[in-house]
Amino acid sequence: MTAALTPRRIGRRLQGRPTSDGAGVKLNRVFAHGQGSELDPFLMLDEFSSYEATDYLAGFPSHPHRGFETVTYMLDGHMLHEDHLGNRGDLKSGDVQWMTAGRGIIHSEMPQQRAGRMRGFQLWINLPAAEKMKPASYRDIPAAEIPIATLPGHVAVKVIAGELESDGMAVAGPIQGLSTAPLYMDVSLPARATFTQPLPAAHAAFVYVFEGRVDIGGAGLEKGQGAVLVDGDACVITGAGDGGRVLVLAGKPLGEPVVQYGPFVMNTAAEIQQALQDYQAGRLTA
Ligand code: FE2
Repeated sequence: MTAALTPRRIGRRLQGRPTSDGAGVKLNRVFAHGQGSELDPFLMLDEFSSYEATDYLAGFPSHPHRGFETVTYMLDGHMLHEDHLGNRGDLKSGDVQWMTAGRGIIHSEMPQQRAGRMRGFQLWINLPAAEKMKPASYRDIPAAEIPIATLPGHVAVKVIAGELESDGMAVAGPIQGLSTAPLYMDVSLPARATFTQPLPAAHAAFVYVFEGRVDIGGAGLEKGQGAVLVDGDACVITGAGDGGRVLVLAGKPLGEPVVQYGPFVMNTAAEIQQALQDYQAGRLTA
């Protein structure tokens, strides 16, 4: 016997803001740290989407990170990642890179195309204090290793992290076992089709519509709009209009103080000072 699930409702809407980062890449910043503890453990979500090479060609030349994870999900395009450990990874359409900066990584993320569409997301997920100084690591996950579940109503779900549990089906994504228990899914919803995913009641949950429109608890969300979902133990989304495509993100809050300075995310101002000193002295990653 299964208890009935309580669908979460929209607690707060978030509208992305145009910005630029790296050497001048145009971005839509869906949210950033400081926009509410209900997003904990997530720190930032950037969307990049353009057919104009001048919006992305400058890329993200060599830069550091410490204290968190970055997840890059390419929908269209080709980027090359290189880091101080000598790792190189091609990110092509549908691929994901899950990078754990830990105590430090210095890397570049550069477009490998001179024209055409570049589209995708970069999500920043915090690490608990106990893991902020662990050695850097990353995983390149090719599109072919990301399961796509087809559910009733022709709902299609790419499961990047965590486990899909919908309509009696369980599908595990390639990323499992992290302290923040992240769920990261790309859900395509035809008109009037409904997707239901159980979520632990204490976990943060966020949806972002990047194509079309959807309905959550009777409220509409359209392309470019995000929402924090609150009060319940399931995410229930229905395709509206001609249907929609959404990122569904959930994770276990850390409940720790967060001090961010650019690409460093630590628990205290002293730890940020240390990161800056380490970076300047060439020992960020040592
Ligand atoms: Fe980076």
